[in-house]
Amino acid sequence: MSTTWDPTAYLTFADHRARPFHDLLARVAARAPRRVVDLGCGPGNLTGLLAARWPAAVVEGLDSSAEMVAAARERGIDAHRVDVAAWAPAPDTDVVITNAVLHWVPQHRDLLPRWLAALPAGAELAMQVPGNFGAPSHILTRELARDHGVDLPAASPVAEPAEYAALLAAAAAEVDVWETTYLHRLTGPDPVLEWIASTALRPVRDALDEAAYAAFRADLAPRLRAAYPAQPDGTTWFPFRRIFAVARVG
Ligand SMILES: C[S@@+](CC[C@H](N)C(=O)[O-])C[C@H]1O[C@@H](n2cnc3c(N)ncnc32)[C@H](O)[C@@H]1O
Repeated sequence: MSTTWDPTAYLTFADHRARPFHDLLARVAARAPRRVVDLGCGPGNLTGLLAARWPAAVVEGLDSSAEMVAAARERGIDAHRVDVAAWAPAPDTDVVITNAVLHWVPQHRDLLPRWLAALPAGAELAMQVPGNFGAPSHILTRELARDHGVDLPAASPVAEPAEYAALLAAAAAEVDVWETTYLHRLTGPDPVLEWIASTALRPVRDALDEAAYAAFRADLAPRLRAAYPAQPDGTTWFPFRRIFAVARVG
């Protein structure tokens, strides 16, 4: 689904959002990759970690959002506007990272084996997608969006870990698949609403005018507060399931 992105809003929970990237990267073994590609690089804050880990590599960030590419370039990332659905690896691509992106790309199950087939021997493809489309945050958003005249897809855009494992194992020599549910401890008023405002709510925001979107947010806020109650100390626990896979080409 195409949607607009706001780099500043997306970075509000940068520490929490960075954690899966670190956990994903920890399972990538490459020592001296020639080219490292961050597919769906967003504002480039995490792409910079790739350059820090592999200083001798050509590191590039690709993203379909003009705003995200501009933000990444401001950080000094060699970023370009590319739709990952139309992307193919250059012959020297030894590492591909795609973190929190492929749930926006409906055909990604077809792309993964195609990318693996085009990568050189020994290359690694590392991906992470949210696995929380059945969580209260998403169910409440979908139900309320419908009441406000916006139809969001009910089906999860991502596969379960076993499906990714089978898909990748058919095209790679080694496959490592796992899932983690992070329990983010958030602060501030309506933190879950703020978290999803810069991601899952983007399609609703795109579909409504300013007043209608404000009304939608005002309706959603108390529902999220009830589903994710603030603790006596003012913090809010936000469970977030994520699915990871790293595949190495033989
Ligand atoms: C949730 S952000 C993740 C950004 C970054 N990878 C991170 O982990 O912080 C999702 C990013 O995917 C990008 N994206 C979504 N669909 C895309 C597509 N088809 N091609 C390229 N980028 C896409 C968005 O523009 C956005 O920057």
